[in-house]
Amino acid sequence: MSAGTRWALNHMPLTAAAVEEAAPVLTGRRLAMCLHVEPKTAALVTLLAGAGVEVTLTGSPGTTHDDVAAALRDLGVTVHTRRADDEADHARNVAAVLECEPDLTLDNGADLTLSLLRSGAPAGWLGGTEETTTGGLRLREERVGRPVVVINDSRLKLLVENEFGVGQSVVQGFLNATNLMVPGMRAAVLGYGPCGKGVADTLARLGARVAVCDTDPMRALQAILDGHRVGSSVEVVSDAQAVFTATGAPGVVGAEELAALPDGALLAGVGHFAWEIDAAALRAATVRTVEYGEPGRRVGHVRADGREVVILDRGRMLNLTAANGNSIQAMDLGLTLQVRSLAAVAAGGLASGVQSVPAPVEYRTATDLVAELA
Ligand SMILES: NC(=O)c1ccc[n+]([C@@H]2O[C@H](COP(=O)([O-])OP(=O)(O)OC[C@H]3O[C@@H](n4cnc5c(N)ncnc54)[C@H](O)[C@@H]3O)[C@@H](O)[C@H]2O)c1
Repeated sequence: MSAGTRWALNHMPLTAAAVEEAAPVLTGRRLAMCLHVEPKTAALVTLLAGAGVEVTLTGSPGTTHDDVAAALRDLGVTVHTRRADDEADHARNVAAVLECEPDLTLDNGADLTLSLLRSGAPAGWLGGTEETTTGGLRLREERVGRPVVVINDSRLKLLVENEFGVGQSVVQGFLNATNLMVPGMRAAVLGYGPCGKGVADTLARLGARVAVCDTDPMRALQAILDGHRVGSSVEVVSDAQAVFTATGAPGVVGAEELAALPDGALLAGVGHFAWEIDAAALRAATVRTVEYGEPGRRVGHVRADGREVVILDRGRMLNLTAANGNSIQAMDLGLTLQVRSLAAVAAGGLASGVQSVPAPVEYRTATDLVAELA
């Protein structure tokens, strides 16, 4: 086990207790899993493997810790991922994971579950879980035919992980990737769901001047009441030194926003897919690129008028690419919801279809977390 995984395990009492309790329905099951391969995920996989669950794992492009993946392989877990993987490698990894003919799936973004459904789900597949809102939306467009629990539909998870976990870790990633000062910085946050709110509030608490754009007027109102300036996407990016995209939607930073960005502006991704920056519009606006240091970390895109926009880590989730992901306690909570929801699927107690975390699971986990943190 890697030292980072051991450290994470020391701080994940809820997940450990949930795995022990779920062992009677999970032991002996084949679990196909897609989750960022980093120490908290490795802690979960170690606990599951210890309970006799046969885990086959992949991650997401750009977020795998190769040392953690190697340590899991040493434990006997099948792991198909490398940090250098691109989207095509990821598709191959997903196909390789599904060769295990899973009883259960644990997914992050829905690539695994959609691939399973499109290739004809094995008769023994009981259903599974999906970590993200984005993946939940993709799955809701399909006929799933088994229970799939969307962990991000949990109010508890949105509060603890998306808002407070992502808020802290994205800012940590920004600091690591840039070495710049946050107090006094003009920042724009596109999307004011729990993730965007967490990033905006964390930046503001550190003294940044934050402007927010959300197309949902309720969320825009929340941002105003929280003390942020609010405007259209073009308005809020036009004087921003750093822009954070947290919408889950493609092309949010398009040609108009790129044209409005001031010279030297930094672009950072928070949402699950890097597609929030319109790659075609960026290519069209770029006459040359400049690498500042490690390849891909800070890439300057220079426009015809000489102004530059700098993309951090190719627009991928900065808290995972440039920091250690969400805090261990935030992930302990989310992974506890994962284990208890998988146990509910395996026990056969849920109706077919894409659904929220069962209310008793959420209530009990909130109670456990209050007891843990009080
Ligand atoms: N980096 C991480 O560790 C991490 C963790 C959890 C979730 N996520 C991802 O972050 C993203 C946001 O998650 P969330 O839970 O806050 O989602 P959410 O859907 O609750 O919030 C997204 C917000 O963006 C707004 N929006 C959509 N299109 C927009 C546009 N064009 N311009 C401005 N606003 C727009 C929506 O109105 C909504 O309020 C998702 O992609 C999610 O998968 C990342």
